[in-house]
Amino acid sequence: MTNLTTVSAPLRDRLGRPIHDLRISVMDRCNFRCPYCMPQSTFHDKYRFLKSAERLTFEEIARLGRLAAGLGVRKLRLTGGEPLLRSGLPELVSELSTIEGIEDVALTTNGVLLAQHAAELKGNGLHRVTVSLDSLDETVFTEMSGGFGGLAQVLQGIEAALEAGLRPVKVNTVVQRGRNDHTVLDVLERFRGTGVTVRLIEYMDVGTRNQWNASDVVPSAELLARIRTRWSVSPAPGRYRGEVAERYVYDDGAGEIGFVSSVSAPFCGDCNRARLSSEGVLYTCLFATHGVDLRSPLRAGASDLELLDLIRHAWSQRTDRYSELRSVLRSREAPLRKVEMHYIGG
Ligand code: GTP
Ligand code: 5AD
Ligand code: SF4
Ligand code: SF4
Repeated sequence: MTNLTTVSAPLRDRLGRPIHDLRISVMDRCNFRCPYCMPQSTFHDKYRFLKSAERLTFEEIARLGRLAAGLGVRKLRLTGGEPLLRSGLPELVSELSTIEGIEDVALTTNGVLLAQHAAELKGNGLHRVTVSLDSLDETVFTEMSGGFGGLAQVLQGIEAALEAGLRPVKVNTVVQRGRNDHTVLDVLERFRGTGVTVRLIEYMDVGTRNQWNASDVVPSAELLARIRTRWSVSPAPGRYRGEVAERYVYDDGAGEIGFVSSVSAPFCGDCNRARLSSEGVLYTCLFATHGVDLRSPLRAGASDLELLDLIRHAWSQRTDRYSELRSVLRSREAPLRKVEMHYIGG
Protein backbone atom coordinates (compact mmCIF):
# COMPACT_ATOMS: atom_id res chain seq x y z
CA MET A 1 0.00 0.00 0.00
CA THR A 2 1.47 3.35 -1.04
CA ASN A 3 1.78 6.11 1.51
CA LEU A 4 -0.21 8.76 -0.34
CA THR A 5 1.08 11.61 1.81
CA THR A 6 4.37 11.30 -0.03
CA VAL A 7 2.77 12.06 -3.37
CA SER A 8 -0.04 14.45 -2.55
CA ALA A 9 1.48 17.86 -3.39
CA PRO A 10 -1.35 20.08 -4.72
CA LEU A 11 -2.18 19.07 -8.25
CA ARG A 12 -3.08 21.81 -10.73
CA ASP A 13 -3.65 21.74 -14.47
CA ARG A 14 -1.95 24.19 -16.86
CA LEU A 15 -4.66 26.76 -16.21
CA GLY A 16 -4.22 26.46 -12.42
CA ARG A 17 -7.35 24.38 -11.82
CA PRO A 18 -7.30 21.72 -9.09
CA ILE A 19 -8.88 18.28 -9.43
CA HIS A 20 -11.94 17.97 -7.20
CA ASP A 21 -14.61 15.75 -8.81
CA LEU A 22 -14.23 12.35 -10.38
CA ARG A 23 -17.19 11.25 -12.47
CA ILE A 24 -17.13 7.50 -12.85
CA SER A 25 -19.12 5.85 -15.62
CA VAL A 26 -19.91 2.30 -14.54
CA MET A 27 -22.00 1.25 -17.55
CA ASP A 28 -22.07 2.38 -21.19
CA ARG A 29 -25.51 0.84 -21.82
CA CYS A 30 -28.81 2.53 -21.10
CA ASN A 31 -32.46 1.49 -20.98
CA PHE A 32 -33.41 4.78 -22.72
CA ARG A 33 -32.51 6.12 -26.13
CA CYS A 34 -32.73 9.87 -25.60
CA PRO A 35 -32.19 11.30 -29.10
CA TYR A 36 -29.80 13.96 -27.75
CA CYS A 37 -27.54 11.32 -26.21
CA MET A 38 -28.08 7.84 -27.70
CA PRO A 39 -30.18 8.16 -30.86
CA GLN A 40 -31.74 4.82 -31.77
CA SER A 41 -30.44 5.15 -35.34
CA THR A 42 -26.89 4.63 -34.01
CA PHE A 43 -27.50 2.77 -30.76
CA HIS A 44 -29.55 -0.08 -32.21
CA ASP A 45 -29.54 -3.83 -31.47
CA LYS A 46 -26.28 -4.34 -33.36
CA TYR A 47 -24.37 -1.51 -31.67
CA ARG A 48 -21.25 -2.86 -30.02
CA PHE A 49 -21.31 -1.89 -26.37
CA LEU A 50 -18.48 -2.90 -24.07
CA LYS A 51 -18.30 -6.52 -22.99
CA SER A 52 -18.42 -7.00 -19.25
CA ALA A 53 -14.74 -8.07 -19.10
CA GLU A 54 -13.86 -4.76 -20.75
CA ARG A 55 -15.45 -2.77 -17.95
CA LEU A 56 -13.42 -2.00 -14.86
CA THR A 57 -14.25 -4.25 -11.93
CA PHE A 58 -15.47 -2.68 -8.69
CA GLU A 59 -12.09 -3.43 -7.18
CA GLU A 60 -10.33 -1.56 -9.99
CA ILE A 61 -12.70 1.39 -9.71
CA ALA A 62 -12.26 1.57 -5.95
CA ARG A 63 -8.49 1.48 -6.33
CA LEU A 64 -8.56 4.39 -8.78
CA GLY A 65 -11.00 6.22 -6.49
CA ARG A 66 -8.53 5.89 -3.61
CA LEU A 67 -5.66 7.15 -5.72
CA ALA A 68 -7.76 10.08 -6.99
CA ALA A 69 -8.65 10.99 -3.41
CA GLY A 70 -4.94 11.12 -2.66
CA LEU A 71 -4.57 13.69 -5.45
CA GLY A 72 -7.32 15.96 -4.11
CA VAL A 73 -10.58 14.47 -5.38
CA ARG A 74 -13.35 14.99 -2.81
CA LYS A 75 -16.50 14.16 -4.78
CA LEU A 76 -17.33 11.01 -6.71
CA ARG A 77 -20.31 10.83 -9.01
CA LEU A 78 -21.44 7.53 -10.52
CA THR A 79 -22.82 7.83 -14.03
CA GLY A 80 -23.53 5.71 -17.10
CA GLY A 81 -25.19 5.25 -19.61
CA GLU A 82 -27.51 4.12 -16.86
CA PRO A 83 -25.51 3.23 -13.75
CA LEU A 84 -28.31 1.18 -12.17
CA LEU A 85 -27.98 -1.33 -15.01
CA ARG A 86 -24.66 -2.35 -13.48
CA SER A 87 -25.48 -5.22 -11.20
CA GLY A 88 -24.38 -4.96 -7.59
CA LEU A 89 -23.90 -1.19 -7.78
CA PRO A 90 -24.62 -0.74 -4.04
CA GLU A 91 -21.50 -2.85 -3.30
CA LEU A 92 -19.39 -0.35 -5.21
CA VAL A 93 -21.03 2.49 -3.31
CA SER A 94 -19.98 0.79 -0.05
CA GLU A 95 -16.38 0.70 -1.21
CA LEU A 96 -16.31 4.26 -2.48
CA SER A 97 -18.09 5.89 0.43
CA THR A 98 -15.46 4.70 2.90
CA ILE A 99 -12.47 6.12 0.98
CA GLU A 100 -10.55 8.57 3.14
CA GLY A 101 -10.95 12.11 1.83
CA ILE A 102 -14.17 11.49 -0.13
CA GLU A 103 -16.87 13.81 1.19
CA ASP A 104 -19.62 13.33 -1.35
CA VAL A 105 -20.76 10.26 -3.30
CA ALA A 106 -23.57 10.98 -5.77
CA LEU A 107 -25.38 9.17 -8.56
CA THR A 108 -26.86 10.47 -11.81
CA THR A 109 -29.62 8.15 -13.08
CA ASN A 110 -32.62 8.18 -15.38
CA GLY A 111 -34.61 7.00 -12.36
CA VAL A 112 -36.46 4.05 -13.88
CA LEU A 113 -34.77 1.52 -11.57
CA LEU A 114 -34.27 3.88 -8.66
CA ALA A 115 -37.29 2.98 -6.51
CA GLN A 116 -36.06 -0.59 -6.06
CA HIS A 117 -32.50 0.44 -5.12
CA ALA A 118 -32.81 3.75 -3.25
CA ALA A 119 -32.90 2.39 0.31
CA GLU A 120 -29.99 -0.01 -0.24
CA LEU A 121 -27.91 2.68 -1.93
CA LYS A 122 -28.49 5.00 1.01
CA GLY A 123 -27.69 2.21 3.47
CA ASN A 124 -24.41 1.58 1.66
CA GLY A 125 -23.30 5.19 1.93
CA LEU A 126 -24.63 7.00 -1.15
CA HIS A 127 -25.20 10.63 -0.18
CA ARG A 128 -27.46 11.92 -2.89
CA VAL A 129 -28.99 11.36 -6.28
CA THR A 130 -29.76 13.35 -9.43
CA VAL A 131 -32.54 12.10 -11.68
CA SER A 132 -32.82 13.04 -15.35
CA LEU A 133 -36.38 14.03 -16.22
CA ASP A 134 -37.07 16.16 -19.27
CA SER A 135 -40.85 16.55 -19.12
CA LEU A 136 -43.97 15.54 -17.19
CA ASP A 137 -45.96 15.43 -20.39
CA GLU A 138 -46.18 11.72 -21.32
CA THR A 139 -45.85 12.35 -25.03
CA VAL A 140 -42.88 14.68 -24.70
CA PHE A 141 -41.26 12.39 -22.12
CA THR A 142 -41.61 9.40 -24.40
CA GLU A 143 -40.19 11.31 -27.35
CA MET A 144 -37.23 12.54 -25.32
CA SER A 145 -36.43 9.13 -23.90
CA GLY A 146 -36.40 7.63 -27.38
CA GLY A 147 -39.77 5.93 -27.42
CA PHE A 148 -39.60 4.52 -23.93
CA GLY A 149 -42.25 5.03 -21.30
CA GLY A 150 -41.47 4.97 -17.62
CA LEU A 151 -42.51 8.41 -16.44
CA ALA A 152 -44.45 6.87 -13.54
CA GLN A 153 -41.41 4.80 -12.47
CA VAL A 154 -39.14 7.84 -12.65
CA LEU A 155 -41.51 9.77 -10.37
CA GLN A 156 -41.64 6.79 -8.00
CA GLY A 157 -37.85 6.73 -8.06
CA ILE A 158 -37.71 10.38 -7.01
CA GLU A 159 -40.18 9.71 -4.18
CA ALA A 160 -38.18 6.70 -3.03
CA ALA A 161 -34.97 8.74 -3.05
CA LEU A 162 -36.59 11.41 -0.88
CA GLU A 163 -37.93 8.78 1.51
CA ALA A 164 -34.54 7.10 1.72
CA GLY A 165 -32.94 10.44 2.58
CA LEU A 166 -30.74 10.68 -0.53
CA ARG A 167 -30.89 14.45 -0.25
CA PRO A 168 -30.72 16.87 -1.86
CA VAL A 169 -32.53 15.11 -4.68
CA LYS A 170 -32.00 16.99 -7.93
CA VAL A 171 -33.82 16.70 -11.22
CA ASN A 172 -31.89 17.37 -14.45
CA THR A 173 -34.01 18.71 -17.29
CA VAL A 174 -32.27 19.09 -20.65
CA VAL A 175 -34.12 21.82 -22.53
CA GLN A 176 -34.54 21.74 -26.30
CA ARG A 177 -36.34 24.45 -28.20
CA GLY A 178 -39.61 23.31 -29.70
CA ARG A 179 -39.37 19.93 -28.01
CA ASN A 180 -39.86 20.36 -24.27
CA ASP A 181 -39.30 24.04 -23.53
CA HIS A 182 -43.06 24.60 -23.34
CA THR A 183 -43.26 22.05 -20.49
CA VAL A 184 -40.44 23.42 -18.33
CA LEU A 185 -42.68 25.51 -16.07
CA ASP A 186 -44.78 22.41 -15.32
CA VAL A 187 -41.67 20.59 -14.12
CA LEU A 188 -40.81 23.53 -11.86
CA GLU A 189 -44.39 23.73 -10.56
CA ARG A 190 -44.39 20.05 -9.72
CA PHE A 191 -41.23 20.18 -7.60
CA ARG A 192 -41.63 23.60 -5.98
CA GLY A 193 -41.84 23.20 -2.25
CA THR A 194 -40.85 19.50 -2.29
CA GLY A 195 -37.16 19.91 -1.52
CA VAL A 196 -36.26 18.68 -5.02
CA THR A 197 -34.04 21.11 -6.95
CA VAL A 198 -34.73 21.24 -10.68
CA ARG A 199 -31.75 22.07 -12.88
CA LEU A 200 -32.43 23.34 -16.38
CA ILE A 201 -29.63 22.28 -18.69
CA GLU A 202 -28.81 23.94 -21.97
CA TYR A 203 -28.72 21.32 -24.67
CA MET A 204 -25.05 20.65 -25.51
CA ASP A 205 -23.13 19.40 -28.53
CA VAL A 206 -21.71 16.39 -26.72
CA GLY A 207 -20.41 13.45 -28.74
CA THR A 208 -20.83 13.19 -32.48
CA ARG A 209 -24.27 11.67 -32.87
CA ASN A 210 -26.93 14.10 -31.76
CA GLN A 211 -27.02 16.48 -34.76
CA TRP A 212 -26.75 19.43 -32.36
CA ASN A 213 -27.77 22.77 -33.69
CA ALA A 214 -27.32 26.04 -31.80
CA SER A 215 -30.87 27.04 -32.66
CA ASP A 216 -32.16 24.11 -30.53
CA VAL A 217 -30.63 25.64 -27.41
CA VAL A 218 -32.81 27.76 -25.17
CA PRO A 219 -30.40 30.11 -23.38
CA SER A 220 -30.84 30.18 -19.61
CA ALA A 221 -31.52 33.94 -19.70
CA GLU A 222 -34.56 33.29 -21.88
CA LEU A 223 -35.81 30.56 -19.53
CA LEU A 224 -35.29 32.82 -16.55
CA ALA A 225 -37.41 35.51 -18.19
CA ARG A 226 -40.17 32.98 -18.81
CA ILE A 227 -39.95 31.71 -15.23
CA ARG A 228 -40.28 35.28 -13.95
CA THR A 229 -43.60 35.67 -15.68
CA ARG A 230 -44.91 33.16 -13.12
CA TRP A 231 -42.72 33.36 -10.01
CA SER A 232 -40.42 35.83 -8.36
CA VAL A 233 -36.89 34.39 -8.13
CA SER A 234 -33.53 35.81 -7.08
CA PRO A 235 -29.94 34.76 -7.74
CA ALA A 236 -28.27 32.92 -4.88
CA PRO A 237 -24.55 32.51 -4.20
CA GLY A 238 -22.84 29.35 -5.42
CA ARG A 239 -22.26 26.65 -2.84
CA TYR A 240 -18.71 25.85 -3.90
CA ARG A 241 -16.11 26.92 -6.43
CA GLY A 242 -16.52 25.09 -9.70
CA GLU A 243 -20.25 24.42 -9.19
CA VAL A 244 -21.77 23.70 -12.58
CA ALA A 245 -25.22 25.15 -11.94
CA GLU A 246 -26.03 28.79 -11.23
CA ARG A 247 -28.56 28.95 -8.40
CA TYR A 248 -31.78 30.93 -8.10
CA VAL A 249 -34.20 30.76 -5.20
CA TYR A 250 -37.95 31.29 -5.21
CA ASP A 251 -38.62 34.44 -3.21
CA ASP A 252 -41.55 32.75 -1.46
CA GLY A 253 -39.20 30.13 0.02
CA ALA A 254 -40.35 27.24 -2.19
CA GLY A 255 -36.79 26.13 -2.93
CA GLU A 256 -34.26 26.63 -5.67
CA ILE A 257 -33.71 26.25 -9.40
CA GLY A 258 -30.34 25.60 -11.07
CA PHE A 259 -29.26 26.69 -14.52
CA VAL A 260 -26.51 24.79 -16.30
CA SER A 261 -25.50 27.18 -19.05
CA SER A 262 -22.52 25.56 -20.68
CA VAL A 263 -23.45 27.07 -24.07
CA SER A 264 -24.45 30.64 -23.20
CA ALA A 265 -22.16 31.08 -20.18
CA PRO A 266 -19.33 28.53 -20.18
CA PHE A 267 -17.80 27.68 -16.81
CA CYS A 268 -14.49 26.13 -17.92
CA GLY A 269 -12.49 28.64 -15.85
CA ASP A 270 -13.30 26.73 -12.66
CA CYS A 271 -13.64 23.26 -14.13
CA ASN A 272 -12.27 20.74 -11.68
CA ARG A 273 -13.84 17.54 -13.03
CA ALA A 274 -12.16 14.42 -14.34
CA ARG A 275 -14.05 11.57 -15.92
CA LEU A 276 -13.40 7.84 -15.98
CA SER A 277 -15.11 5.72 -18.63
CA SER A 278 -16.42 2.29 -17.74
CA GLU A 279 -13.48 0.70 -19.56
CA GLY A 280 -11.02 2.73 -17.55
CA VAL A 281 -10.05 5.61 -19.82
CA LEU A 282 -9.47 8.88 -17.99
CA TYR A 283 -10.74 12.05 -19.69
CA THR A 284 -10.19 15.62 -18.57
CA CYS A 285 -13.09 17.17 -20.50
CA LEU A 286 -16.63 16.17 -21.38
CA PHE A 287 -15.80 17.09 -24.98
CA ALA A 288 -12.43 15.34 -25.11
CA THR A 289 -11.19 13.58 -28.21
CA HIS A 290 -8.80 11.30 -26.36
CA GLY A 291 -8.06 10.04 -22.88
CA VAL A 292 -5.52 8.02 -20.93
CA ASP A 293 -5.98 4.28 -20.69
CA LEU A 294 -5.68 3.22 -17.06
CA ARG A 295 -7.08 -0.29 -17.48
CA SER A 296 -4.05 -1.68 -19.32
CA PRO A 297 -1.56 -0.64 -16.66
CA LEU A 298 -3.99 -1.70 -13.92
CA ARG A 299 -4.25 -5.17 -15.42
CA ALA A 300 -0.53 -5.36 -16.17
CA GLY A 301 0.24 -5.02 -12.47
CA ALA A 302 1.12 -1.31 -12.25
CA SER A 303 1.99 -0.03 -8.79
CA ASP A 304 0.02 2.75 -7.08
CA LEU A 305 2.86 5.13 -7.80
CA GLU A 306 2.83 4.29 -11.50
CA LEU A 307 -0.92 4.82 -11.70
CA LEU A 308 -0.67 8.06 -9.75
CA ASP A 309 1.95 9.28 -12.18
CA LEU A 310 -0.37 8.64 -15.12
CA ILE A 311 -3.27 10.52 -13.49
CA ARG A 312 -1.04 13.38 -12.34
CA HIS A 313 0.48 13.71 -15.76
CA ALA A 314 -2.93 13.75 -17.49
CA TRP A 315 -4.23 16.43 -15.13
CA SER A 316 -1.11 18.58 -15.02
CA GLN A 317 -0.96 18.79 -18.83
CA ARG A 318 -4.63 19.68 -19.13
CA THR A 319 -5.63 22.84 -21.01
CA ASP A 320 -9.27 21.92 -21.80
CA ARG A 321 -11.86 24.65 -22.18
CA TYR A 322 -14.06 23.36 -24.93
CA SER A 323 -17.20 25.30 -24.03
CA GLU A 324 -15.31 28.58 -24.09
CA LEU A 325 -13.86 27.73 -27.51
CA ARG A 326 -16.97 26.06 -28.89
CA SER A 327 -17.63 28.37 -31.82
CA VAL A 328 -13.99 28.36 -32.97
CA LEU A 329 -13.63 24.61 -32.64
CA ARG A 330 -16.92 23.96 -34.40
CA SER A 331 -16.01 26.21 -37.31
CA ARG A 332 -13.07 23.99 -38.24
CA GLU A 333 -13.48 21.91 -41.32
CA ALA A 334 -12.91 18.45 -39.85
CA PRO A 335 -15.44 17.74 -37.08
CA LEU A 336 -13.87 16.74 -33.75
CA ARG A 337 -14.19 13.07 -32.86
CA LYS A 338 -15.52 13.78 -29.39
CA VAL A 339 -16.16 11.07 -26.85
CA GLU A 340 -19.82 9.99 -26.64
CA MET A 341 -22.04 11.06 -23.74
CA HIS A 342 -23.38 7.59 -22.88
CA TYR A 343 -19.79 6.37 -22.58
CA ILE A 344 -18.44 9.22 -20.48
CA GLY A 345 -21.52 9.92 -18.37
CA GLY A 346 -22.11 13.61 -18.86
P1 GTP B 1 -23.83 18.68 -8.47
O1 GTP B 1 -22.73 17.98 -7.76
O2 GTP B 1 -25.15 18.36 -7.87
O3 GTP B 1 -23.58 20.14 -8.66
O4 GTP B 1 -23.92 17.95 -9.91
P2 GTP B 1 -23.20 18.19 -11.28
O5 GTP B 1 -23.82 19.39 -11.90
O6 GTP B 1 -21.74 18.17 -11.08
O7 GTP B 1 -23.56 16.86 -12.12
P3 GTP B 1 -24.73 16.40 -13.09
O8 GTP B 1 -24.39 15.00 -13.48
O9 GTP B 1 -26.06 16.57 -12.47
O10 GTP B 1 -24.59 17.35 -14.35
C1 GTP B 1 -25.48 18.37 -14.67
C2 GTP B 1 -25.32 18.76 -16.13
O11 GTP B 1 -24.13 19.49 -16.29
C3 GTP B 1 -25.24 17.59 -17.10
O12 GTP B 1 -25.89 17.91 -18.30
C4 GTP B 1 -23.77 17.43 -17.34
O13 GTP B 1 -23.51 16.87 -18.58
C5 GTP B 1 -23.34 18.88 -17.26
N1 GTP B 1 -21.97 18.98 -16.82
C6 GTP B 1 -21.43 18.44 -15.69
N2 GTP B 1 -20.14 18.74 -15.62
C7 GTP B 1 -19.85 19.46 -16.73
C8 GTP B 1 -18.69 20.03 -17.24
O14 GTP B 1 -17.62 19.93 -16.64
N3 GTP B 1 -18.77 20.70 -18.43
C9 GTP B 1 -19.92 20.81 -19.09
N4 GTP B 1 -19.90 21.49 -20.23
N5 GTP B 1 -21.07 20.28 -18.65
C10 GTP B 1 -21.02 19.60 -17.49
N1 5AD C 1 -26.87 18.21 -23.46
C1 5AD C 1 -27.09 18.49 -22.15
N2 5AD C 1 -27.26 17.56 -21.20
C2 5AD C 1 -27.23 16.28 -21.59
N3 5AD C 1 -27.40 15.16 -20.89
C3 5AD C 1 -27.28 14.11 -21.74
N4 5AD C 1 -27.05 14.55 -23.00
C4 5AD C 1 -27.02 15.91 -22.92
C5 5AD C 1 -26.84 16.94 -23.88
N5 5AD C 1 -26.63 16.67 -25.17
C6 5AD C 1 -27.68 15.13 -19.46
C7 5AD C 1 -28.54 13.98 -19.03
C8 5AD C 1 -28.12 13.77 -17.59
C9 5AD C 1 -26.81 14.46 -17.46
C10 5AD C 1 -25.70 13.66 -16.92
O1 5AD C 1 -26.48 14.94 -18.74
O2 5AD C 1 -29.89 14.26 -19.14
O3 5AD C 1 -29.04 14.34 -16.71
FE1 SF4 D 1 -29.60 7.17 -21.08
FE2 SF4 D 1 -29.14 9.43 -19.75
FE3 SF4 D 1 -28.27 9.15 -22.26
FE4 SF4 D 1 -30.87 9.36 -21.82
S1 SF4 D 1 -29.31 10.92 -21.38
S2 SF4 D 1 -29.88 7.85 -23.18
S3 SF4 D 1 -31.09 8.30 -19.87
S4 SF4 D 1 -27.58 7.97 -20.50
FE1 SF4 E 1 -14.74 21.40 -18.08
FE2 SF4 E 1 -14.58 20.73 -20.63
FE3 SF4 E 1 -16.93 21.30 -19.48
FE4 SF4 E 1 -15.17 23.25 -19.95
S1 SF4 E 1 -16.22 22.01 -21.47
S2 SF4 E 1 -16.37 22.93 -18.09
S3 SF4 E 1 -13.24 22.15 -19.57
S4 SF4 E 1 -15.59 19.57 -18.99
